[in-house]
Amino acid sequence: MSFVEVAQTTGIPAGSMRHVEAGGKELCIVNAGGTFYAIADRCPHMSASLCMGTLEGTVLTCPLHFARFDVKSGRKCSGPVEPKIEGMDVVPPAVADYIMWVTAITAPIKTADLQVFPVRVEGTAVLVDI
Ligand code: FES
Repeated sequence: MSFVEVAQTTGIPAGSMRHVEAGGKELCIVNAGGTFYAIADRCPHMSASLCMGTLEGTVLTCPLHFARFDVKSGRKCSGPVEPKIEGMDVVPPAVADYIMWVTAITAPIKTADLQVFPVRVEGTAVLVDI
């Protein structure tokens, strides 16, 4: 076990997330209702930064294809979904074809659970075992 300080609690209000780098790892520090969690800050689907996603309770939604993960366990709650894009009917056909091609290629990519790291809070310091 090697806990290192990665953030201050005051810098991550409840319901928010913050990207940090420590020990050669990219981490997303999550404050879910006052409890802190640390997860790898790369989506296991296609590497989007999860800190740029949204948080509801302890469920984080990836900003790119909307896979959902429980930050407590790292468990995948649901896989990527095809986004509903307003105005797709007015996109030039070549652009629409390209989007559909990319969607067809990325849809079969398997999405694993997240890596989670033990967290300890001492005073206002957030420490992660990396
Ligand atoms: S990169 Fe996260 S769901 Fe695709």
